[in-house]
Amino acid sequence: MESTGFAHWLVVLVETFALLFVLLLVVVVLVVAVVWVLDRNQTHNSVLRNYPVIGHFRYWFLHLGEFFRQYLYSSDREELPFNRAQRMWVYRAAKNSENTNSFGSTRDLRGEGVPFFVNAAFPSLGDHHVDPKPVRIGPYAREPYDHAAFFNISAMSFGALSAPAVRALSIGAKKAGIWMDTGEGGLAPYHLEGGCDIVFEIGTAKYGVRTPDGKLDDQKLLAICAHKQVKMVSIKLGQGAKPGMGGLLPAAKVTPEIAEIRGIPVGKDSQSPNRHLDIGNVSQLMDSINHIRDITGKPTGFKAVFGDMGWINELCEEIYKRGIESAPDFIIVDGSEGGTGAAPQTLMEGVGLPLHEALPGLVDTLTTQGLRDRIKVICSGKCITAYDVAWALSMGADFVNSARGFMLALGCIQSLQCSRNTCPTGITTQNPRLQRGLVVTDKSERVAHYAKNVMHEVGIIAHSCGVDDPRELDRTHCRIVGDDGISVPLISLFPYPKAPEGQKASELP
Ligand SMILES: Cc1cc2nc3c(=O)[nH]c(=O)nc-3n(C[C@H](O)[C@H](O)[C@H](O)COP(=O)(O)O)c2cc1C
Repeated sequence: MESTGFAHWLVVLVETFALLFVLLLVVVVLVVAVVWVLDRNQTHNSVLRNYPVIGHFRYWFLHLGEFFRQYLYSSDREELPFNRAQRMWVYRAAKNSENTNSFGSTRDLRGEGVPFFVNAAFPSLGDHHVDPKPVRIGPYAREPYDHAAFFNISAMSFGALSAPAVRALSIGAKKAGIWMDTGEGGLAPYHLEGGCDIVFEIGTAKYGVRTPDGKLDDQKLLAICAHKQVKMVSIKLGQGAKPGMGGLLPAAKVTPEIAEIRGIPVGKDSQSPNRHLDIGNVSQLMDSINHIRDITGKPTGFKAVFGDMGWINELCEEIYKRGIESAPDFIIVDGSEGGTGAAPQTLMEGVGLPLHEALPGLVDTLTTQGLRDRIKVICSGKCITAYDVAWALSMGADFVNSARGFMLALGCIQSLQCSRNTCPTGITTQNPRLQRGLVVTDKSERVAHYAKNVMHEVGIIAHSCGVDDPRELDRTHCRIVGDDGISVPLISLFPYPKAPEGQKASELP
């Protein structure tokens, strides 16, 4: 009796599954038929019109290829903006794991534009140690800033970045003794959390320090600069990835907290103007710098992407008219290869000078004008490994900033979706579910290790070149490979211009 009952239920189960399967099949056939008819008759896509239904595979594969290439198909030195070898170098530096390779380098040492360094015949005896001397920024400001670390965190706003990312950067920066630039999104409590030095950036929308009609609110700026951690103020004129265009924070990222900090409405796209309303020429730029420095007492400078250096010559003339103390205390030169939360591809790829031209252009213009010691040069643009940083110092930078290097240290996997609020590593998303992946205690350690290891390895290069302080690297220490695979000294590509008799760094207050 029992076995007959069991057989009955088994038959019912099989019949139910068979029925469900047939129903599913009918639904699938119906859906395919509808898609086929729609594809065949639509007028905007020729592939789908000719190959209805299966044509969709092309788009899925194109999308998936973006992710699979990096794991399965691309070689170590192939991808952009950062290839696997570069990313792995940063990951290892951030994890403080052994950064040595076996058998030999996969870097093509004959590739056009590759920099390498000139070792001294008799380097000084013993291991190197990195102990850079502090550099004074803003000698005429009421609160000059003395800072030693030559590798620091570039501007990235709270909004473009998540709160855990900003917190991890702030804590890591404090541990490594480096500064962190707030980016254009105002000052969040997360920037202050770790106790690191802060560069406060004023973007074109003046987020965080704006009046309702977008002008500078002095009282708000004073409140921000009252924090002892805020060491300098940077006016953002432009950014390498989008010269001549303001930033866009998509509505999905404008949470109530971000809106409050920036002084904008919640949940609406926030587009900043393409330039400051009150800075339309060199004289107005000087007015703003001097106004901000006067009221805050902090060293003040600006960040720009350069098309040419003509206007820097004009700026220098204006400085001489007003007096040397009126000069910007620093200029941040951002190469056109710079990163961003969101920008049109055309601007990213086609406008502005890349760092390898803009940096020597700026350094040499300031030298020719006798203002090189007065105005400190900070640079950014794909300087994420020790050689990139050593190259920039050799070229004449006083400090090197990195944004994406620190994003990689935070765990970024270069999935190229910073603007979509879907960042899989929780770095550039305001979605709490995705932010959960970023554990602040762990990632802040990585930020600190990364910064320290970059500086340590630049120290190794400097020691090998026979100088004690990485800032003593100059254009004789670096060679660049030309299109024939043969390298030439940096100094023959960019000879030092003659400096007029001007104020020397040692004579500045
Ligand atoms: C996610 C993200 C957000 C950024 N936000 C800002 C910003 O608010 N202000 C700014 O001046 N630059 C911003 N930048 C540009 C960086 O500060 C930096 O100038 C540029 O990415 C070059 O450095 P890198 O090559 O090391 O990334 C941002 C870059 C990224 C990747």
